[in-house]
Amino acid sequence: MSRRQFYVTVLITSCIFIFSQCFRKAPEKVNTDVRGEQFAGAATCISCHKQIYDAYVATGHYNTSAPASEKSIKGPFTGDNIFSYSNGTRVVMEARDSGLFQAAYTDSTLQEVHRFDITMGSGRKAQSFLYWQADRYFQLPLSYFVPAHSWANSPGFPPSYPKFDRMIPSTCFGCHSSAVGIKEVHMEGRRLSESFEKNQLVYGIDCERCHGPAADHVAFHREHPQEKTAMHMTRVKMLKNQQRLDMCALCHSGLGTPQKPAFDYKPGDALSDYFFPDFTRPTRAADLDVHGKQYQLFTASRCFVKSDEMNCSSCHNPHNNERDQLATFSRRCMACHQPAGPAFCKLKSLSASVLEKNCIDCHMPVLPSGSITLLTDGQTRATPDSMRTHLITVYPEEVKKILARFK
Ligand code: HEC
Ligand code: HEC
Ligand code: HEC
Ligand code: HEC
Ligand code: HEC
Ligand code: HEC
Ligand code: HEC
Repeated sequence: MSRRQFYVTVLITSCIFIFSQCFRKAPEKVNTDVRGEQFAGAATCISCHKQIYDAYVATGHYNTSAPASEKSIKGPFTGDNIFSYSNGTRVVMEARDSGLFQAAYTDSTLQEVHRFDITMGSGRKAQSFLYWQADRYFQLPLSYFVPAHSWANSPGFPPSYPKFDRMIPSTCFGCHSSAVGIKEVHMEGRRLSESFEKNQLVYGIDCERCHGPAADHVAFHREHPQEKTAMHMTRVKMLKNQQRLDMCALCHSGLGTPQKPAFDYKPGDALSDYFFPDFTRPTRAADLDVHGKQYQLFTASRCFVKSDEMNCSSCHNPHNNERDQLATFSRRCMACHQPAGPAFCKLKSLSASVLEKNCIDCHMPVLPSGSITLLTDGQTRATPDSMRTHLITVYPEEVKKILARFK
């Protein structure tokens, strides 16, 4: 046998071997996660992290995207289910036997109708809805604005007619889901256009979005139930403070120009690996929008600047829904601002026992967003969505309002 024949034979034999291994392994494959076999899927975490899992399913993160249904959609399909545009077109939310729809009528002629396929937003403040057509996702013209209990024109949409053709890019899923299957990316004119694989969507922000792929971790601990130290898993508490901040900043610092998909994130990665640097942002923190900019606002606060190791976990437990528990959050402030110490609140007109119940409304007030505003039916001006600012400081105007309530 010549040398050449020898190599060819070796090559063929190894190909056959590898090929046969693939087929041998195939039936054993239990993992059906669309992200690939390095991912285990959140459901597999239950068996060993039940307490965390059970709490986590009540969070905004877990519920931030879902298949559209009467359960996931907070808005009504009877009663207040009509929105009128200035050109006379009315969009009606209709529950039909075949599903839930937004249907546009002029007089009584149906112009356009699309199905609610996906709900975006857990319904804390607002929800937007997507429909699926020809391998693309589009946003429906009407969103639901929770504080106003009203359907509203989607943020940034024209008030004159119902716009049905806003294409949704993968970046939207990058912050509101755990995976989306991209079929093709191409240029349409100067615009990037993406088409998607149907049903390849992992809803909600799951454990592995923050903790990274965990299949090896699961496999190891299943085989070694006696092992009590986490293996094949990054220990968040051992990361540098900036790495811990970047874990949240990935989605809570606004959308920059992406360098690579947010879905690739693993704990320890730097935010700057995902977005090109942004030189356009306002230099004054007070000029930043309260929506989606928690990272910039918090890191501009004196609490952060003057502390060594402060990050989002100083106040937030990422596995629990602690919404509106202002006394709990205030206790976390007092870990550093102890009532008996020199760093406590300087306001003299209220007693410490009153201050202790709620540091938040005075120092992190709910402020209107400039970028997210929603036009509700019958109004001529859009109402801003309001959010807690993360610029922790003294707000004299807000304090006046609060003190007035005490009098
Ligand atoms: C077969 C059991 C088992 C399964 C399944 C499992 N884990 Fe774990 N995990 C452990 C053990 C044991 C530890 C170490 C003790 C602890 O921290 O609870 C651990 C610890 C962790 C830690 C903490 C690491 C640290 O020390 O900071 C994270 C994060 C984690 N697991 C994530 C996951 C995720 C995400 C899943 C699901 C995809 C998962 N685990 C599934 C057994 C398991
Ligand atoms: C939004 C991001 C995020 C999500 C989603 C998330 N975690 Fe965590 N997890 C963290 C952070 C941050 C820490 C470190 C918390 C700290 O410093 O106290 C952590 C810590 C942990 C730990 C170790 C410390 C502890 O609290 O016991 C385990 C175990 C864990 N996570 C498992 C899970 C599992 C299981 C899920 C899904 C059910 C999950 N995590 C979802 C961010 C997240
Ligand atoms: C993959 C993107 C993503 C990451 C990573 C992420 N978040 Fe979020 N976060 C969101 C989205 C989207 C929402 C809005 C959820 C909704 O629909 O209510 C949200 C909401 C929240 C809320 C409000 C929840 C409520 O119920 O009031 C808090 C607090 C929060 N995130 C903290 C964190 C912290 C802390 C981290 C890092 C440990 C983090 N997030 C990481 C995307 C993310
Ligand atoms: C860079 C990450 C990011 C991108 C991209 C993004 N969002 Fe969000 N979105 C967030 C975060 C974080 C919140 C919650 C915190 C806030 O509003 O400051 C949020 C809130 C929302 C809410 C309100 C949910 C609630 O009740 O708080 C809706 C609805 C929403 N986004 C829809 C969308 C849609 C639709 C797209 C795509 C066209 C999109 N978002 C793109 C990060 C993002
Ligand atoms: C990890 C410790 C820590 C935590 C937790 C913390 N702070 Fe601070 N905070 C500080 C430090 C340090 C300073 C700077 C004090 C100085 O200037 O000497 C500060 C400053 C402040 C200031 C003055 C800001 C200014 O612009 O003058 C206010 C107000 C404040 N904190 C309120 C809060 C509130 C409210 C909370 C909870 C939501 C909180 N802090 C949580 C450490 C902390
Ligand atoms: C000093 C304490 C503190 C720190 C640090 C902190 N937060 Fe918050 N955060 C709060 C409080 C208090 C609320 C209000 C909770 C409520 O009203 O239910 C809040 C609310 C939020 C909300 C919901 C805002 C809204 O109105 O919808 C998001 C999102 C959020 N935090 C993200 C983050 C992220 C991301 C970080 C880190 C970059 C962070 N937070 C750091 C105290 C903190
Ligand atoms: C009713 C509104 C209100 C509440 C509640 C409140 N504060 Fe204050 N806080 C103020 C005002 C106003 C000032 C400025 C007082 C001054 O300088 O005379 C202040 C000052 C401070 C300062 C010093 C800021 C500086 O300039 O150095 C800190 C720190 C602080 N507060 C923390 C807290 C903490 C922690 C809590 C909860 C335990 C809290 N505050 C509750 C209104 C409030």
